[in-house]
Amino acid sequence: MQAPRAQWGSRIGFILAAAGSAVGLGNLWKFPYITGLNGGGVFILAYVCCVVLVGLPVMSAEILIGRATQKSPVAAFRELTHPGSFWVSFGWLGVFAAGSLLSYYSVIAGWAMHYAYISLNGELVGSGVEGVQSLFGQVVASPGLNLFWHIAFMALTVGVVLGGVAKGIDRWSRILMPALLIMLTGLVVRAAFLPGFGEGLEFAFGIRPEEFRPESLLAALGQAFFSLSIGMGTMLTYGSYLHRDDDIMDSSIQICALDTIVALAASAVIFPIIFSFAGLEPGQGPGLLFASIPTGLIQMPFSGVLLATFFFLLVFAALTSAISLLEVPVSFLIDQFGWSRGKSAALAGAVITLYGIPSALSYVEGSALPEFLDKLDWVVSNLMFPVGGIGMSLFAGWRMDEALRHDHFLSGSKYRFAYNAWLTLLRFIVPVGIVCVFLNAIGVM
Ligand code: TRP
Repeated sequence: MQAPRAQWGSRIGFILAAAGSAVGLGNLWKFPYITGLNGGGVFILAYVCCVVLVGLPVMSAEILIGRATQKSPVAAFRELTHPGSFWVSFGWLGVFAAGSLLSYYSVIAGWAMHYAYISLNGELVGSGVEGVQSLFGQVVASPGLNLFWHIAFMALTVGVVLGGVAKGIDRWSRILMPALLIMLTGLVVRAAFLPGFGEGLEFAFGIRPEEFRPESLLAALGQAFFSLSIGMGTMLTYGSYLHRDDDIMDSSIQICALDTIVALAASAVIFPIIFSFAGLEPGQGPGLLFASIPTGLIQMPFSGVLLATFFFLLVFAALTSAISLLEVPVSFLIDQFGWSRGKSAALAGAVITLYGIPSALSYVEGSALPEFLDKLDWVVSNLMFPVGGIGMSLFAGWRMDEALRHDHFLSGSKYRFAYNAWLTLLRFIVPVGIVCVFLNAIGVM
């Protein structure tokens, strides 16, 4: 007899854990610069439409599949179809995609941990403006630092997941997410007093229709997908721990809203800093977070506190995402082999740590696999996500049993009236949208 399915300790715990999964490096770094490059306010409008019309339906569908089966992705698709069904491969894809993303997400989070550490011990402030700018290149090139912090971050993640759903993930999300929101609010308030605040906001939110191209719409859709953590079984797994009478649509709306607010707030921090200091560029890539922003912060009063706040913000955002990524393979191992949570978390953590080594060493001189991290990111973001997203939406829209779907959408919901609209989006709009993003990403369109 299997143990009964674990459950969230509280509804707010689930919302914060799922929002924690969604809020990550994608909000703090990808969103601001994509917005800046694609027409500012126009892009934001398009982004919000993508979140509402595509992101929200897929997120609620994923949560619904999870709750209806009380299983992790592979077992969930198996239960709703039959063993060996084609649909089960979307479950496997989810487990593999989550492990792949975590393997290099942890390396980037490790950089943030290193920076948080040297903010606290004064080393970062001590290195001066020029030192900070060249520091990032040295950090990524150092094999020892990369491996140490990658392993440390994976150990933290395993530590939280070991605690289980209510006592680990739920509890830590209720600590980390409010802390993250407080730190972010503090940084927005500080940014509001910078000389470049107006110019920064103008760059991020100003309406520039001439910079919004057809590809910008696809960029908005792709970003919505990445930012909301959908398409790879994370939300499905978290949904499987949800109470029978929780309102799935209502929860999904809150998760999407929180994720979007954090992305907007991040833009209101990043660009005012960039525009307040001569010589900083609103460029893309990790250099924005690890070179440009600290170069600005270090020139401000109380720079030590500001730097530590900024990098702890990054670490917390990455940690809550990493927890949800590790939970996918862990719950898979528990369901598939009946293993204990301890054994599953230790094994999944160890395998993913090893898998991350080529990423951790990708910028080391003479690396056997140069830029492995970037290449893996390309495969995960452009191939695995869209394929997973299509699978989830087609399954929930067309293949899943109507009575079960209807029942779980309505259960405890104040959005009963939206059922038909939701199903129509899921069946038609969502798959077409994702296919367009996918074709664009692989260069066909
Ligand atoms: N949403 C995360 C971010 O913004 C990235 C991400 C995508 C993710 N898919 C995920 C995180 C699945 C956790 C689980 O950075």
